[in-house]
Order: sequence, then C-alpha cells, then structure tokens
Amino acid sequence: MKDNTTVQGAVHQDLKHDSAIKQVQGRAEYTDDIAEPAGTLHAYLGASNVAHAKIRGMDLSRVRSAPGVVDVLTADDIPGVNDVSPTGKHDEPVFPTEKVEFHGQPLFAVIAETRDAARRAAELAEMDYDILPHALDPVSAHEAGMPLVTDPLKLERGDVDGAFGGVAHRIQAQMTVGGQDHMYLEGHIAFAIPGEDDDVIVHCSTQHPSEAQHMVAHVLGVPSNAVVVNVRRMGGGFGGKESQMNLFCAVAALGAKKLGRAVKIRPDRDQDMTATGKRHDFVIDYDLGFDDEGRIQAVEGQFAARCGWTSDLSGPVTDRALFHADNAYYYPNVRLTSRPQKTNTVSNTAFRGFGGPQGVIAAERMIEEIAYALGKDPLEVRKANFYGEAGDGRTLTPYHQEVEDNVIGRIVEELEDSADYQARRKAILDENAKGGIIRRGIALTPVKFGISFTATWYNQAGALIHVYNDGSIHLNHGGTEMGQGLNTKVAQVVAEAFQVDFDRIKITKTTTEKVPNTSATAASSGSDLNGMAALDAAEQIKERLVTFAAESRGVSEDAVSFAPNRVVIGDESVAFDAFIKEAYMARVHLSAAGFYKTPKIHWDRAAGKGRPFYYYAYGASCSEVAIDTLTGEYRVERTDILHDVGKSLNPILDKGQVEGAFIQGMGWLTTEELWWDDKGALRTHAPSTYKIPLASDRPRIFNTNLADWSENREMTIKRSKAVGEPPFMLGISVFEALSMAVASVADYRECPRLDAPATPERVLMAVERLKASQ
Ligand code: MTE
Ligand code: HPA
Ligand code: MOS
Repeated sequence: MKDNTTVQGAVHQDLKHDSAIKQVQGRAEYTDDIAEPAGTLHAYLGASNVAHAKIRGMDLSRVRSAPGVVDVLTADDIPGVNDVSPTGKHDEPVFPTEKVEFHGQPLFAVIAETRDAARRAAELAEMDYDILPHALDPVSAHEAGMPLVTDPLKLERGDVDGAFGGVAHRIQAQMTVGGQDHMYLEGHIAFAIPGEDDDVIVHCSTQHPSEAQHMVAHVLGVPSNAVVVNVRRMGGGFGGKESQMNLFCAVAALGAKKLGRAVKIRPDRDQDMTATGKRHDFVIDYDLGFDDEGRIQAVEGQFAARCGWTSDLSGPVTDRALFHADNAYYYPNVRLTSRPQKTNTVSNTAFRGFGGPQGVIAAERMIEEIAYALGKDPLEVRKANFYGEAGDGRTLTPYHQEVEDNVIGRIVEELEDSADYQARRKAILDENAKGGIIRRGIALTPVKFGISFTATWYNQAGALIHVYNDGSIHLNHGGTEMGQGLNTKVAQVVAEAFQVDFDRIKITKTTTEKVPNTSATAASSGSDLNGMAALDAAEQIKERLVTFAAESRGVSEDAVSFAPNRVVIGDESVAFDAFIKEAYMARVHLSAAGFYKTPKIHWDRAAGKGRPFYYYAYGASCSEVAIDTLTGEYRVERTDILHDVGKSLNPILDKGQVEGAFIQGMGWLTTEELWWDDKGALRTHAPSTYKIPLASDRPRIFNTNLADWSENREMTIKRSKAVGEPPFMLGISVFEALSMAVASVADYRECPRLDAPATPERVLMAVERLKASQ
C-alpha cells in the first residue's frame, strides 16, 4: 500500500461520501437490489377505507382466491405479540382485530407470487364495519373528548402568573403549524429470508435495526437471538424510518416463517404516504408578556399535536417541542405544556428536528409579535432576548439546564455583516414603500438545538473493528447510513486513529449480529456516539500493538508511535501492513469491540428538570424573498447561512447537510401541505399533489458557511458537533421573510400571523386580510 507522509481522509478533511460515485452510477445497493432466492414471494398491505369503525367482519375469500395469491396474513397468524409499538406501550397492533382507527390503516397482508398480484388482490377484501365518528385534527379531537396518546409534559420556571400581572404588553394568539411527509427517495421495504429453527434474516431500510430485531422477535414469539436485521444503506430516512419500519419487518418475517420462503414487502409511494407516519402538525396557543424595549417577561405556551392513532414516538416528539419553544431566547418566567392528542389519522413519528422545529417556530412567532407591536426590526428584538453568558442571570432554560456554550451572539453578528443585512433591509423597506405589486421581505433567524436523545439510555453506542493480517481494516458500528455520510465520518475517525489512509478501511453494513442493542441513528447523534465507540475500539487494538512493538524491540512504549501508514518503533519505521503481519504472527489480538455512553446528561421528566442535552448546536440564516401580492406566488432571492458544527469532522459533508436541511425546512414551511378530506383520507399522497422543493426553488443566491472558529467545549468526537437536524430550522428565515413581505401591505403595523405552510394561497389570503384591515 501507499507510503505517504500524510494520511488521506483523516478527520477534519473534506472527503466525498464513500458511496457518492456508486450512487450516481447506480451501483450502490439498496434492499431491493439484493438478489432474491428462488421462490421469493411478495407481500402487500390491504388497508382500511374508513377512518374510524368497529370491525364486524372481514371477508377475505376473494383476496385468497385471486390469481397468484399464496396466503393472506391477519392478526390470527401472529404467534407472538400483536404489537409493534416502539415504546413498549402496547398500543400499536400489527393488524387490528376490533377497530379501525384511521383511513389507510393496514388490516391484513396478501402474499403472492408477484408484487403486482399481491397489490391487486389487496383491493378485494369485503369489510363489514360499524362506522364511528372520527376526529382528524388536535382541536376537534380534544373537543370530542378523545384521549391523549401519552402523558403530557409541563416545563415551568419563575412566577408566571405573577409576572403576567406586571407586564407592559400582553398578546394572546394561536398558530397552526403543518406536518410534513418524509419523501425519502427509497420508500419502506423489508425482505425476510427464513432460516433453520426459529431463525430469520431481515434486510430492510430502517434507522433502528435493533428495534426492528426486537419487534420481529416479539411478533414471532421467539428470542431476539433468532433474528438478524441488516441495513447496508437507506435512500433517505429523515426520521421516517426510526420506528415505522417495524410493521413491514414484522409482516415480511411472519410470511417468511409461516411459508418457509423468502418474502419481500415494498409499498408503492401512495401506500407509503398513507400508511406511515409523518411530522406532527401542531396548534400552538401562546400568551406573551414583554416590556417597552421588547424584552420578554413571561411566556405561557400550549402545544397540541396531531399524534394519530397510537403513541409511537409522540411522547418524546412533543417533549422536544417544549425543549425548543425557547429557541435561543431567555424566558424569565415561563410555563409550557404539551398535549399529545390522539386523532384518527396515521400515527405521526420522528422527522428531522423531532418536534424541535415546531417549538422553535413558536418562539420566532412571538418575536415577530413583539416586533410588530413595538414597530421594531425583528432582529433587534431577537438580540434583546438572546440567552446570556455565565453569571448574567440569563442562562437558565425552561427545563432548568444552564446554557454554557452560547455562541449565538457571535454567529448572528457575523452573519448580519456578511449578508449585509442592515443595508439590504433598508433598501427593501424603501422599495416596498413605493407600493409596488411585488413586495420583498428579509429575515435573519437564529437556531439553538439541544444534542442528545432525551431518553437518556439511548445515548450509547458500540463498534467492532477487525484488523486482518494483510493490514486491511473492517469497520462496523451501530449507526445506519441514510445519505448523511455517517459511515464516511466514522471511517475517518478510524483512519486518523491508526494513521492509515481512508481507503484501507472497509465500511460494512449495519447488522444486529455485530453490534447489539444499538440506538436508532437519530437525534443527530450518529457520529457523536458511533465515532466515539469506533475510536474506543481502535484505541484498544492500538494499545495491544504498542505493547507488542515495545516488547519485540526492547524499547519503551513511549518510543512507539503511529505515523502515516507506518509504525515507528524506536529508530525503526515499519510499514503498517508489515507490522500487522508481524503482530499476527506473534499472536496479538487484532479485533476489538468499542463502547461509548454520553457523559453528564440526566433528565427527570416528572419534575421537568435536568440536563437532557450534552451541548447545543447553533446557527443562523438570512433569507430574502419576493412575493407577488396579486397571486401570492413567491421566490427566495438569496439566503446566507452561518452554522456551527464545532470542529467539523468533514466540512464538505457538513455543508451538504446544512444546505439540504435548510431546503427541507423551507419546504416544510412553504409548499409541503398535507390535506385530508372529510372522510379522513389523506389526499396528498403522491408527488403530484404533495410539493417538495425543486432544484428551481432553491435560493437564487445561496451562501453557506460553517463557523470555522467553533470548537465543541465538551469532549465530543474530535470536538465536532452534530449536524443532521439543527440546520433544518434555518428554513424559518424564509417563512419570516415572507411574513415581512406580507406585512408591508399594511405598513408593518400588524403581525401577519401566517400559519405554516405559507403556501402561495396562504400568502395571498394574508395579503388580502391585511389590506382589508387597513
Ligand atoms: N441526511 C440525508 N442525506 N438523509 C437522511 O435521511 N436524516 C436526518 C439527518 N440528515 C437524513 C440526513 C436526520 S432526521 C437525522 S436524525 C440525522 O441525519 C441522522 O444521522 P446522524 O446522526 O448521523 O447525523
Ligand atoms: N430524537 C430523535 N429520536 C428519538 C429521540 C430524540 O430525542 N428520542 C427517542 N427517539
Ligand atoms: Mo432524526 S428525526 O432524529 O431521525
């Protein structure tokens, strides 16, 4: 191998995603590309066409006799537990037995010789229902007396009621924030291959292989050691595959074990969108008190979420909404409550930001309220309310964690400068004052995002490294690759540790056989957790190598070091491969399992107090938009971003994450609208009706920079910070800029109170409303 003076592809270097070339050439393998064994069968879900009903009877005879059908699976075929609830609440049957609780709910699975035959047969069930009343949104469900899916959370600090008594200004209002479909390119898929005894192997597209393994085991009624779950890569997950894959894995495994043949299940896009959960939409009631300078004095917020028919991850999602309802702002007196509302809709789930964005946007709405009430630039109000520095009495969050690493002031100041915010805002105000049809808006919004799973036990990871006797390295860890570049980053950490080139390290599929009891690759924690676990494994092997080197040459261990692709032992320098061969011959153990758990964190949910987050990631974006006041159409003229990823493991990948997250966040708040009809059917279930941003919707000018001076003050992997989710909330600057453009038609005297998504229709209606109120 090479004998370089530097390591190619160590940490802090720009390195392309390890699969990038394979992906553009179509050579990267996804679950559906795995060669199918002879006799592979295909499953398809039969779904309900009512939103809420008692099941009186289910006649599947026409399904069973349809051409190509081999079997039909119902709840009766489940040998173990009929449940795939990720939190152990036992509220999510694979197939229902008594009630249908949403339109599109899976009722049974057809297994046929071809996918097409299964799909056609799935339409042929004859259902006998007693129709029950349904409620689709959190407000009507609450009014109808429907229960919550899980316990609500309350966060409180200060004397809220007392403070409201003395505020100079008070505003009470409501905001509706829409949900979002994940729109991963590769949809859900599971492919189960039966083995001897109870064994089954499931290849699938999940962010959480261990959970899928445990669910399959429960459903089959076998121990977890009989089930192997494998994930080479996903074509995107975005949170949509954190728990929602469980059902597909269970169905494929059930079929495979019952029939003794491989079974694959892959819903089409329409079924993927109707049968699997999305981002939670929220209805937020806020009560806000502030002084004449625009400083917040008191906040009360109620966050009602459309959770759907089961709890799924709605507890931690609504918790995270509250954890982020302060965004970057200090609230002296605050009370926040969640209402995880059951509704007759698909069970909503994780989606990039995990409830955080819905909290942050409420904070930003309150800032706007203050700015319009006092006639100030919203940026001035933002700055007046930022968290402070240690010792100034403005660092305590509503959940009683101290903000110790605040860099939002510097981020915003630098971005304000580089984006030329003040001059551009002035020019826009002057231009709008001329009263044209096209109005512009500009907004600079901050993000502070807490890093760690709020379920503290999730903050652990494992890794397994083998060094083969030819010097090649096999790397495995518990994280999954969904396009974010996790495998590339973890391999960089290992390359750095051994001082070998990146291409010496083989990146392998995630499998429950190699690293057990892993957490979901979620909460942006993939490289923080798995990077550390891999480093631990590498350090163990290095230690043994150092001991061997010192003993074999009779030098002290201090005289042994790892140089690029070589090992230096005293005066001697040996090529890495040759040294590994030597170590092997001397019977040195060249394999290690690494482990990591995040320090310092704890959380007492009942008390609403603790340190749920190891640290915060920060960022800010500045967007300028132009709207057409006659049609409501708009475009993003320019966006500037400055984002904090600490000391980046891989700046070019991190920049990609920041840009992608911004666009996805912008889509959530602008064009992506979920719409249910009065029967409870989701009518936006394909790209024809559900509009994600296109390449042509990106900002005309798009400048993204990382805060290269930032370094995590906590001992994270190479002092980096998580990047996956925080920049999603940078998209809020587009929403706030739209708001300013709308406000111009009423001379900025009224807060436009745009609901999200601000589709062109909503923008137009807001323009009309503000014009009429003049
Ligand atoms: N980037 C790509 N390309 N595809 C994805 O599915 N998911 C996001 C983010 N970036 C996602 C992505 C979400 S929701 C999370 S939590 C993180 O990646 C997870 O990966 P990480 O922890 O390794 O950053
Ligand atoms: N973030 C993302 N996924 C999760 C979390 C979280 O905080 N908790 C459980 N799953
Ligand atoms: Mo990301 S929503 O935590 O998978």
